[in-house]
Amino acid sequence: MTILTMPTTPFDGQKPGTSGLRKKVKVFQQPNYSENFIQSVFDVVEGKEGALLVIGGDGRFHNRTVIQQAVRMAAANGFGKVLVGQGGILSTPAASNVIRQYGAIGGLVLSASHNPGGPDEDFGIKYNVSNGGPAPEKITEAIYDRTTTIDRWLTVEAADIDLDAIGTVEVGGMSVEVIDSVADYAALMEALFDFDAIRGMADGGFTLAFDAMSAVTGPYAHEIFEGRLGFAPGTVRNGTPLEDFGHHHPDPNLVHAKELYDLMMSAAAPDFGAASDGDGDRNLIIGKGIFITPSDSLAMLAANAHLAKGYAGGLKGIARSMPTSAAADRVAEALGISCFETPTGWKFFGNLLDAGMATICGEESAGTGSDHVREKDGIWAVLLWLNILAIRQVPAKALAQDHWARFGRNYYARHDYEALSTDKANALIAELTAALPALPATAHGPLVVAAADSFSYADPVDGSVSANQGLRVMFEGGSRIVFRLSGTGTEGATLRVYLERYEPAGGTLDAETPDMLADLIAAADAIAGIVRHTGRTAPDVVT
Ligand code: G1P
Ligand code: ZN
Repeated sequence: MTILTMPTTPFDGQKPGTSGLRKKVKVFQQPNYSENFIQSVFDVVEGKEGALLVIGGDGRFHNRTVIQQAVRMAAANGFGKVLVGQGGILSTPAASNVIRQYGAIGGLVLSASHNPGGPDEDFGIKYNVSNGGPAPEKITEAIYDRTTTIDRWLTVEAADIDLDAIGTVEVGGMSVEVIDSVADYAALMEALFDFDAIRGMADGGFTLAFDAMSAVTGPYAHEIFEGRLGFAPGTVRNGTPLEDFGHHHPDPNLVHAKELYDLMMSAAAPDFGAASDGDGDRNLIIGKGIFITPSDSLAMLAANAHLAKGYAGGLKGIARSMPTSAAADRVAEALGISCFETPTGWKFFGNLLDAGMATICGEESAGTGSDHVREKDGIWAVLLWLNILAIRQVPAKALAQDHWARFGRNYYARHDYEALSTDKANALIAELTAALPALPATAHGPLVVAAADSFSYADPVDGSVSANQGLRVMFEGGSRIVFRLSGTGTEGATLRVYLERYEPAGGTLDAETPDMLADLIAAADAIAGIVRHTGRTAPDVVT
């Protein structure tokens, strides 16, 4: 039976961003709120009659409630079948894989990524399309348009299903199968990587610390690292997904994964350390005594990927987001393949991956992945590192030093100024944009501006143009500062300042990053007037 429900609280019409709709749990709990958004998604999906839909999330508070709502609504909207991860759990990369593997029309991925969870914290819903990737802009725009006019949502009257019992049940005439959240993903990883070589390394005494941050990767990490690869019990830390992530931010950076960082810098450090975020798409890589920046990790993985069986045929191309350092560009050049520079956000990689133009891609914000799915993938990155180390038989630190000796080193940091007033942040960007044309040839301390522009991207596959994707100031010698406002913050505006200094092979390769970036940090304030506009004398977060 289909029930038509008139919304009593209209959808608030706020634009869902590239990562879907993200709000506080309390907002999603308002009567009709989640339903209106889900219905707007379903109203836009073409060909849903009889089609397969995937639903899963990162296990945060409110996950189970929205899954039950979405299942009933899918039945009323004519879907043929729904696949749900056991316990409502599917990491974002695992959801991408399930959509692709089972030929689903798309999927609802419930997550607020690395943001905190709990009754007073964040929730999110995003729609992924049949290639397994986030919906492209024309679909998210259509969903948004629909939210402004929606006048009813459809549901069936049915009891909640048992999300913990593997098997198939029926809801309003539609079949719902609860599947093992981990099995398909683990099989995919085993097809890409040489598990025997990694297991041999673990047997030989190589140790690993993986921090799942009480988030979604726990079950995946237990099965893969401890179960299939034979790392010792206890290798996976914080491996049980909690609805509030144990009151932590499940954000694998040097601030929120400080415990892991401190361990890796201590005398008791295991050989390799890694962490992943709330929904399992980000990664943090720390070798014994060395933090590997995500930009360097992308370059190092690309340079060595052929050592893993899934990439033995070589890479078709590399793609990185614009603010990500140019370290990967030098690898691409050496390999004789293209390196694409895209705007921030994983969705820009989708076309390049679908077209077979890029195999590996990454962002400075701890996202790395390949054409195996259409999302970034935290555990994948850790496994590729382990596979490479198992074949090369060197510590991560030696691999990094060897890489820099060959390609040079891109010293890199990102400074975030959070919760700024939107007006002040916009004024800073507007003033800097107006000043860009006059910047070339000006000197800031020892740095001389070579070029300055507002980044614009023309997609090489579909020709679509995305303008105003960040302000770039390039200096003579290959250093660079990028200024942009975050598109994912939930409070005011966040200014991100990306600092990069290139030291060629033969230069200073083993210095401390803050020392190497001091001139750039001073230049960033001189050029953009950060203190003058924001009143802030230091960033809130340095990564
Ligand atoms: C941030 C990251 C970006 C990433 C996005 C979603 O976006 O910078 O690389 O794709 O989160 O995880 P931002 O807040 O900078 O717009
Ligand atoms: Zn995430």
